Amino acid sequence: MAKNTRHRLPSCLAVERGHLTIAGQDALALVAEHGSPLFVFSERRVAENAAGFLRAARGGHPRAAVYFASKACSNLHILRIIRGEGLGIEVNSGGELWKALTVGFAPGEIVFNGVAKSVEELSEAITRGIKAINVDSAFELQRIADVARGLGRRATVALRLVPGIGGGATAGIQTGNASSKFGMTAPELQAALAIARANPQALDVAGMHLHIGSQVTEAEDFAASVAFTARMSREIGAALGAGLRHLNLGGGYPVDYAHLDSGDNRGSSDTLRGFAARDAAAPMVGTVAAQAARELGAETEILFEPGRALVADAAVLLSQVENMRLRGDMPWLYLDAGYNLLIDSAAVRWYYHMVNAGRMDEAADRAYRVVGPLCDSADCFFDVEGEYLWKALSPRLATLPPETREELRAAIIRLPETRTLPAATAPGDLIALLDTGAYALGEMFQYCGRLRAKAVMTDRHGGVTVLRERDRPADLIGPAEEMLLRAATGA
Ligand SMILES: Cc1ncc(COP(=O)(O)O)c(C=O)c1O
Repeated sequence: MAKNTRHRLPSCLAVERGHLTIAGQDALALVAEHGSPLFVFSERRVAENAAGFLRAARGGHPRAAVYFASKACSNLHILRIIRGEGLGIEVNSGGELWKALTVGFAPGEIVFNGVAKSVEELSEAITRGIKAINVDSAFELQRIADVARGLGRRATVALRLVPGIGGGATAGIQTGNASSKFGMTAPELQAALAIARANPQALDVAGMHLHIGSQVTEAEDFAASVAFTARMSREIGAALGAGLRHLNLGGGYPVDYAHLDSGDNRGSSDTLRGFAARDAAAPMVGTVAAQAARELGAETEILFEPGRALVADAAVLLSQVENMRLRGDMPWLYLDAGYNLLIDSAAVRWYYHMVNAGRMDEAADRAYRVVGPLCDSADCFFDVEGEYLWKALSPRLATLPPETREELRAAIIRLPETRTLPAATAPGDLIALLDTGAYALGEMFQYCGRLRAKAVMTDRHGGVTVLRERDRPADLIGPAEEMLLRAATGA
C-alpha cells in the first residue's frame, strides 16, 4: 500500500498481503466463494454511519430525528440494521412503505415523499397513520384531503417547498429549484394553504419539507436552506393560525467518492470536484442542526433524510476483468459489471473510484480505458457522451482563451478519461469499485440478458450474510414467458 498513494480508502477497507479486505474479509476469497460481480457490504460500517449521523444531529439539536432515505438501499437486511440504530425511514412508494412496515418500522417512524403518489398509496399511508405525507403539489394536497375524508381520517402532512437553492453534484440531482420536478413554488404554496384552510377536518398540516439535492458538498447550501425554513415556517404558521410541529431539512449529505490524496479536495481536480467531499456528513449535519436550533428553535422537531451518506461507503462492487485490448498505446479493460449494475455511472455520469483488489501493494501507475460488458457503446466508465460533444464543439471554440476552454471542457466531460491501475492488471484480476452501497442495488436491471449481481455483507461477528442472491437464468423470464415455454415444450 505504501507505494500506492492515490487512494484514501473508506474505513471498512484495508489491505492485507496485497489484497483488499472488507471488514477483515479478503475480496478475492469472497469472489472465489460467491462469484463475480459481487457487492460486499460492511454491517459495521452501515451501523456506524447511521449511529454517527444521528448522534451528530442530536448533538446540534436536542429534538433532531433521522429518517433514512430508503431509496438509497431498501434491502431488508440493511433496513434492519438502520432501524436497530434508532433511525426512522423515508419512503417513496407503496413498495418502500410495505418494506418499511415489514421490517418493523412503526408508522410514526415513517415519512412518505414522492411526486406522483397514487390514491392507493395515499390510502395506505393515511390508514396506517404515518408520521407525515410530504405533499408535492396543491393538486396532491386536495387528493389527500379527498382520500382522508373518504376514509373518515385526518391525514398528517408536511408541505414540500422549492427553496431556490441549487445544491448537488449534477443537474439531475439538484432538487431545490424550480427547474427540478419537485416541490411547491411560492404561488403553488398559496394554493396549497387555501386547500389546507378549507379542509381542516381532513388535513393536519404538521410540518414543512425541503430537499435541495444529493451530494451537496457546500455547507453554505445547507445554511441557506435553514434560513429559508425559518422564514417559510413562520409564514405558513401565520397563514394557518398554528405553528408547525416539525421541519424536515431533507438529505443530500455528501460522500467522498473521489479519494484524492490532497487535504482540500475541492481544488484538486475539476473533473472530480462534485465527487470530492471535503467535510464528512456527520460533522456537517451537526453544524446544520446547531444552526437549526438557533434559527428555528430547540422545541420544534427537526428531521433529516440522509441516504447515500449512510450506505455509500459501506459497500464495494467487485468485478472481474474479462477482456482487454491495446488501441495504439492505450490498454482497454473490460469488466463483467457495467451500467446494468451501476446505472448512475451512465445516467448522471457518476464517479466510482477503482482499485485492483489483488494488487493493492503495486503502484497504480498505468492509465486504462475501462468499460463494462454490455453491447452498448455508452457502457463505459468514462464520459463517452461528453467526450463526443467536446470533440464536436472544440474546433468552434478555438479562439477562446485557454482557461475558458479548460473550464468548458471540465463542464462537458464529467468523468476522467482513464483510470490508473497497476501496470500488470490483466484479465482474471478483480477490480473493486468503491462507495457503491447507495442506490446501486435497487437500480440493477437485466439488460442484455445480464443477471443482477449477488450481494453479501460482512457481519459484526466475522461471518458473511447473503443480502440477495445472484439472479438465476430462469429469473430472466417472467410468468408470461414461462407459459410460452411450457406451451412450446408441452411441459
Ligand atoms: C426527498 C429526498 N430525501 C432524501 C433523499 C436522499 O438523498 P441523499 O442520498 O443525497 O442523502 C432524496 C434523494 O433523492 C430525496 O429525494
